[in-house]
Amino acid sequence: MEKSVMSNPEVILNPFVHHLELESTYEKLKTAFFTVILLPVRITIICLLLITGWLLASVGLWGLAEEDLREKPLTGWRRTIRLLLCTLGRFVYAAAGMEIIIKGKQASRSEAPVLVCAPHSTFIDGGIVYITGLPTCIVRRESGNDSYIGKLINFSQPIYVWRDDPDSRHNTIKEIIKRAKSDLDWPQILIFPEGTCTNRSCLITFKPGAFYPGVPVQPVCIRYPNKLDTVTWTWEGPSALKLLWLTLTQVHSYCEIEFLPVYRPNEEEKRDPKLYANNVRRVMAKALGVPTVDYTYDDCRLMARAKEMNLPCASSIAEIRKIRQRLQLIDAHIEEKIINSQLICKDCSRVTLTEFSNYLNVFPSDPLVMQLFKLYDKNASGVIDFREYLLGTVVTSKERSLLEIIQLGFKIYDSSGVGKISLHEFVTILNHTLAVTSEQSEFIFKQIVPDNAIYITFDNFVSFAKECPEFSNIFVTCNSSKNCQKNGNVHENNCVKKNE
Ligand SMILES: *[C@@H]1O[C@H](CO)[C@@H](O)[C@H](O)[C@H]1NC(C)=O
Ligand SMILES: *[C@@H]1O[C@H](CO)[C@@H](O)[C@H](O)[C@H]1NC(C)=O
Ligand SMILES: *[C@@H]1O[C@H](CO)[C@@H](O)[C@H](O)[C@H]1NC(C)=O
Ligand SMILES: *[C@@H]1O[C@H](CO)[C@@H](O)[C@H](O)[C@H]1NC(C)=O
Ligand SMILES: *[C@@H]1O[C@H](CO)[C@@H](O)[C@H](O)[C@H]1NC(C)=O
Ligand SMILES: *[C@@H]1O[C@H](CO)[C@@H](O)[C@H](O)[C@H]1NC(C)=O
Repeated sequence: MEKSVMSNPEVILNPFVHHLELESTYEKLKTAFFTVILLPVRITIICLLLITGWLLASVGLWGLAEEDLREKPLTGWRRTIRLLLCTLGRFVYAAAGMEIIIKGKQASRSEAPVLVCAPHSTFIDGGIVYITGLPTCIVRRESGNDSYIGKLINFSQPIYVWRDDPDSRHNTIKEIIKRAKSDLDWPQILIFPEGTCTNRSCLITFKPGAFYPGVPVQPVCIRYPNKLDTVTWTWEGPSALKLLWLTLTQVHSYCEIEFLPVYRPNEEEKRDPKLYANNVRRVMAKALGVPTVDYTYDDCRLMARAKEMNLPCASSIAEIRKIRQRLQLIDAHIEEKIINSQLICKDCSRVTLTEFSNYLNVFPSDPLVMQLFKLYDKNASGVIDFREYLLGTVVTSKERSLLEIIQLGFKIYDSSGVGKISLHEFVTILNHTLAVTSEQSEFIFKQIVPDNAIYITFDNFVSFAKECPEFSNIFVTCNSSKNCQKNGNVHENNCVKKNE
């Protein structure tokens, strides 16, 4: 992962959390009421609209070969269908009770071949394609195969990303450049450069894809100025279904789309897509009144993996990694040294800030150290579980196989110091690496434990796991980091599906 410097060293945000609870009884009653009288009506209307959309798209695709779709823009009556689809899309929003407020004016393709939309915070953002006249999106190839959505996606003539293609990034960029600079009458290209959803509290790193062509772009800001935020869809927060339910039971909500002035790159920006991306981000952050934070999609992947493993503080793991980088703990391999020596703490489950700083050889008065400590001190009790900290850093310091991580877990949670793991420790280890529940862990433990013993060793566990198909993913060995993603079973956030 590349080294990234925080734009603002004082604030480290974690924009991947979203808290949404219906607090007052009034809210709860209101939601219950509208779930009964409003939700069924809205869902029925929306389904009818979607079916109509599917039929229209199927008609629009009729008689077109794959090459036609890929090589030339739609013409004639098919364009009329495109306009109809856009109208239909707006109806879907109206049926959901969401009013769309438009500020500024969309530039034409000749003025700005690329639309850059941010912040990306929800699947509902996808509706912007209907407001902007069904532009070209970047879509995963698998989405085109979906029997319902696939028709609509194919009809919009997207740029497909073939994920199996090892050269996928390169080819996608080539295709973006080709479309953006084409003399044919293609629609504009629409890109969410953040590549994943945040809670709109900041703008994360823009991926440079949209900026490679070096053509003018029009920044487009999306806001949801609602009292209750029922749309934000992040790693740590309500599920898509819950959000959909809560959004559809709001009588009235707003989505604001603001077209900013076209940004024309200078020569330097044309040569350097990353610089161009950063400068556009700065303009958008100013318009939105939010800071920029250098989180990347890779940081998100890291958090997703941590979440999948049920690692403590999973959603802060990228933040923790950045702080450790700034404290130069990563380069010094401090935590690994601690793990490889005998654990120094008397009771590693209760470690104070002073002890923590001693172990890491840093100053307890350093604001960064306090911040790091606070992230693990979730209940503000003044003590943290140092083992959770060590485990978290093991996962983030370098690419490791699941088996290695479990082995380190056995080391970190071993209070005997000689590799004897008690039931209680075993439950915690499996819970924080394989997300196994305590009942399952207890069941496994009972099967492994040697006669007359009350503990197991790592080798006991490995020989047991080798016989279990459920654990086969632990033994996937891999060298390239690409394959290694498999064993963590990276959770797919569907927010990523629609865009890059
Ligand atoms: C969004 O993230 C910021 C930064 O971590 C946080 O302060 C804020 O509470 C989050 N917003 C919601 C609604 O959870
Ligand atoms: C999509 O479906 C076609 C056959 O209909 C198949 O050949 C292709 O591999 C599928 N692509 C993906 C990415 O699933
Ligand atoms: C979309 O187009 C692809 C080829 O580009 C095709 O394989 C796929 O079946 C199409 N999807 C639908 C639903 O027609
Ligand atoms: C807070 O967490 C610590 C360790 O993480 C634990 O020992 C303590 O009991 C917790 N306190 C409360 C009030 O939950
Ligand atoms: C273990 O993980 C599961 C989810 O994977 C969680 O629901 C549970 O509370 C965790 N803790 C224990 C002690 O099982
Ligand atoms: C991984 O790399 C090592 C040497 O670097 C090699 O011996 C081993 O066979 C490789 N494993 C796989 C699965 O490619």
